[in-house]
Amino acid sequence: MSIRTIDTRSYSDQKPGTSGLRKKVPVFRQPHYLENFVQSIFDSITITPEATLVLGGDGRYYNREAIQVILKMAAANGFARVLVGQGGILSTPAASCVIRKYQTLGGIVLSASHNPGGADGDFGIKYNIDNGGPAPEKVTEAIYARSQSIAQYRIFEAPDIALDQLGATSLGSMCVEVIDPVADYADLMESLFDFAAIRALLTSGFRIRFDAMHAVNGPYAREILQRRLGAPAESLMNVVPLPDFGGGHPDPNLTYAHDLVEIMYGDDAPDFGAASDGDGDRNMILGRRFFVTPSDSLAVLAANATLVPGYKQGLAGVARSMPTSAAVDRVAQQLDIPCFETPTGWKFFGNLMDAGKVTLCGEESFGTSSSHVREKDGLWAVLFWLNVLAVQRQPVENIVRTHWARFGRNFYSRYDYEELPTEIAQGIMSHLHDSFGQLAGASFGEHRVLFCDDFCYTDPVDGSISQGQGVRIGFTDGSRIVFRLSGTGTQGATLRVYLEAYEPDASRHHLGAQEALADLIAIALQVSELQARSGREQPTVIT
Ligand code: G1P
Ligand code: ZN
Repeated sequence: MSIRTIDTRSYSDQKPGTSGLRKKVPVFRQPHYLENFVQSIFDSITITPEATLVLGGDGRYYNREAIQVILKMAAANGFARVLVGQGGILSTPAASCVIRKYQTLGGIVLSASHNPGGADGDFGIKYNIDNGGPAPEKVTEAIYARSQSIAQYRIFEAPDIALDQLGATSLGSMCVEVIDPVADYADLMESLFDFAAIRALLTSGFRIRFDAMHAVNGPYAREILQRRLGAPAESLMNVVPLPDFGGGHPDPNLTYAHDLVEIMYGDDAPDFGAASDGDGDRNMILGRRFFVTPSDSLAVLAANATLVPGYKQGLAGVARSMPTSAAVDRVAQQLDIPCFETPTGWKFFGNLMDAGKVTLCGEESFGTSSSHVREKDGLWAVLFWLNVLAVQRQPVENIVRTHWARFGRNFYSRYDYEELPTEIAQGIMSHLHDSFGQLAGASFGEHRVLFCDDFCYTDPVDGSISQGQGVRIGFTDGSRIVFRLSGTGTQGATLRVYLEAYEPDASRHHLGAQEALADLIAIALQVSELQARSGREQPTVIT
């Protein structure tokens, strides 16, 4: 057994996107492709002699093979220890929790989140730093730069490590510790929420349904919801993780979590429904025949935070990504706490949390979390809701409607146009940029443009600047249209159109979002020339 240095050539396409490097499995399987990227990570960080790395993934196809390669490369690159989840499993929030709890140098998370898996599906790899959060742009840029000049990588030659047995083994001078992927995370949840109150709710006839979508959260839900909180077995569905997620698209939204949606809108619907995604960091919240938009969910949690033991002292501040609705801004205003608007992607919340400026944060893309970790956290959001429900003892719909009555309602919707030819999608974005001059001050029916720009963010903690984060058209009545290109897709380009309108008048809160936003949708299509340029009459997904 020895360390080998292998000659390699760079791949031009290893630029990390919104959340790490995501590609189809066959791309990752090209000779040295994974190894190049892993070596680029290791070359971009300082590996001290006592450094520990956390390693795990969402169990998708190619997870196990990749784990073996990374373990052997970690051993050859000077790590003292790797904490790897049993079976190669760690949900994204659990990885963040383990990095923080054991104060490790960082972690590698293998996942393509909510993208489909399987032999021809997606795979992904992401580096998280010592605060437990995704590496900031300066690190991902360094990794990319290194990947472009890489000529060699180092790997320890040894048989595969047994991943299914808990305990420590050695790989050369490095210790590999196979850890329980659920325990540390479940303990953290128990420290934040009133488990006794939630258990009382779940054993009092209040019925829930949690859909793990055959993804990583199955074992977490079993341990926390079923074993520690007493939810009956039948309240959990699709809890067996599968490498291809059972052929499904593990994205918890109204389109892809259709089995759950059918149950929650059915005759004998349970009181509360929820789902999480491939790597367990997203969440969808439903009441009986009622959908809570992620932006509203964040606002409701912020408004009710002091009901939950972990947040009873109040919130330091809140943050949301730019395209997320301003519902939480209104709560922050009333609570008199700061509210930050960041670019899309969880990596922008890390600095704010490390500096103690925010406690809760969220994105419209079904992501919510707090400073307990540095990732979004699907089950955490579910438990937060259950804790609030255990105290309020009201239907989900009532809680949200009462919230709207108090703060006003931010009607919100997102239209996704997936797998567009890249030039077409870029053409639409350039056309919008070219229209800024004409749009400024223009009127569309009752809507008058107040501003249009491409969102640029200056991080209030380290002063770093992120440009080109999405085209915004703001109207004088507070409504907004945002256009941006996805940074997580692996096929063509995905154009996202975000629509938001604020409605203070409670007599209009019963309207459906599509109805309330119809004017804005028409304006968005008109100014972008989207239909003519893309040939698409309808979006692929509406959330
Ligand atoms: C999408 C979401 C974004 C989220 C990211 C990772 O990125 O829009 O909010 O942080 O997935 O889950 P996008 O594809 O839009 O770049
Ligand atoms: Zn995810």
